Formats: sequence, structure tokens, C-alpha cells
Amino acid sequence: MIKHLITYLTCVASLAVFVSLPAAQEPKRKFLVGFSQCNNSEPWRQAMNAAAKTEAAKHKDIELVFSDAAQDSAKQVADVENFLTQKIDLLIISPNEAKPLTKVVKKVFDAGIPVVVLDRSIEGESYTCFIGADNTEIGKAAGEWIAKTLNGKGKIVELKGLMGSTPTHHRSKGFRDAIAKFKDIEIVHEAEAKWLRDEARTQFEHALAANNKIDLVYAHNDPMAIGAYLAAKAAGREKEMLFVGIDALPGKDGGAQAVIDGKLAVTFLYPNCGKEAVETALKILNKEKFERKIQLQTATVTKENAADFANPEKKK
Ligand code: FRU
Repeated sequence: MIKHLITYLTCVASLAVFVSLPAAQEPKRKFLVGFSQCNNSEPWRQAMNAAAKTEAAKHKDIELVFSDAAQDSAKQVADVENFLTQKIDLLIISPNEAKPLTKVVKKVFDAGIPVVVLDRSIEGESYTCFIGADNTEIGKAAGEWIAKTLNGKGKIVELKGLMGSTPTHHRSKGFRDAIAKFKDIEIVHEAEAKWLRDEARTQFEHALAANNKIDLVYAHNDPMAIGAYLAAKAAGREKEMLFVGIDALPGKDGGAQAVIDGKLAVTFLYPNCGKEAVETALKILNKEKFERKIQLQTATVTKENAADFANPEKKK
């Protein structure tokens, strides 16, 4: 009797395990998407993550998992490897630097997992889709604005982003090509400030010490332009020169507000791609048609239109 009871209880228990297993193992969502961010501490990247989260929340099929490489390319490689072991269905990545990330992105792509690359590129073409704005065009627009505003004459400092990241080269080339024909425009100092405000502040202190006249600072993003502004202000020289940036992030600490406040003379919109990344990921995963290269629009943001960019919700 006891033996029968034990056999009966064992059967019931194993049946319960059998019945409950599929539910416990089922993924929360249909698609698991790894989002490899290169540096969460930059405001523009926080805006990108927020836009991606907002878009993903509208769709019940997709779950985003984020990683932050904290501006360390080796860490970002490890983050992507970790996503592979988590068996992601798709990778979204904004690579810190092109060369060090190329191999691991290719590994994911070659494994048949779609890859959406955002804003900064890798080497080669081993990805499913690239989303970003044309950084050479932005650099050119900045160069043309600068040449016009300086009446073709002046001393400029160029503060560059991380040398290993593609926008640095494109923003520099577009700018330099645009000012090339103006023989009286001179780049008196250039430095790599790695996209970071505090690094730009330090680098610009060196520029100030070495040059008793600077007419304009062209920084590859707004945080670096603000870093230069703070260094100039501390030296009592901020009125001597104009500050030009890129990003035009909304909000009270964004570049558009810095234009309204008179710290920056102009900035150029660099859309953050977060919403488009999730939209495109869903199209790819649902086997719908998508464009392989998506180019987002830029805009010139001056005192005249900065309010629209500082508070885009109000404009709608
Ligand atoms: C943030 C950022 C932006 C810049 C972009 C270029 O990490 O530095 O400010 O526009 O990256 O990739």
C-alpha cells in the first residue's frame, strides 16, 4: 500500500514538474534584443537609451537589455560576447571605436544574428543596418557657418572627439574642406578631447595658454564646446571668442539651451537614433522591408530657432 502511495506521489510530482516547465522556461518576450551602448555617462547617450526604451515599451514583442561599456572598447567587446551567450535575437550597437569592435560585430553578424549599428560605424560592411546622420555634411555645414560668421578671417581651435570613432574624422573633414578656400582662416590649435566636457576644458586651457588671440572654438560635440567655454570663462576670455558645437540636445542642460543662454553661438542637430533603432529592429525581426542605411536629418540651431529644439514637445 505504502509502496503504491509513493509511486503515485512520485508520478504526480513529476507530472507537476513536466506541466510547469514550459511556462517557467518561456522567454518574457518574443524577441530579446541586446543594446550595447558605448558610454552611458554622456547625456546624448542617455537620450538615445531613453528614446529606445520609450519606443520598445509600445511593443509587446520586444525586450531590450542594455550594457554600458563606459567608453572602454575592450569592455564593449566583452558586453557583446555576453549578449551572445544570452542568445539575443538581434544586436543594436553604438560602437565606442570602429577598429576594436569590428571583429566581434562580424562574429554576431556571421552567426546569423541581425546587427543594427547606430551613429558610429565599424570597419567593413558586416552589419544588417546602419542608422545615423551624415557627419561629413554636419562638419561642412559648421565650416560654412564659421567662414561666413568670421567673414573669411580668424583663428580657430578644433576640439576633436575620440580619434578611434568615425564621427571625429567625418566632422573634421567636412569642416576642413569647407574652410579650405579661406586663406585667412587659420587652425591655431587642435586637440583630442574624446567627446568629454572635462577633457575639453583641460585641453582648452592649453590652447588658451598658447594663444593670446582665439576667435572661435569648433568642438565636435556640445559638451566639449561647453568645456571650452568654462575654461575661457575661468580665464576671463569667453567674450573674446565664439563657441560652436554639435548635438543640440533638448532640455535645460542641452546644447539648444546653451545657444539660448549665449554660451554657444550655434550648434548642429545630431539626432540620437534610439527610436529608429527599435523601429528598424522590429521590422528586421518580423521579416518586414527595411532600409539598410537610414540617414537622419540634421539642422542648424541658432538663437533664432533654438527654442524649438530646447523644448521640442512645445513645438508639436
Ligand atoms: C556621445 C557623443 C555625442 C556625439 C556622438 C558622436 O557619446 O559624443 O555627443 O555627437 O557621440 O558619436
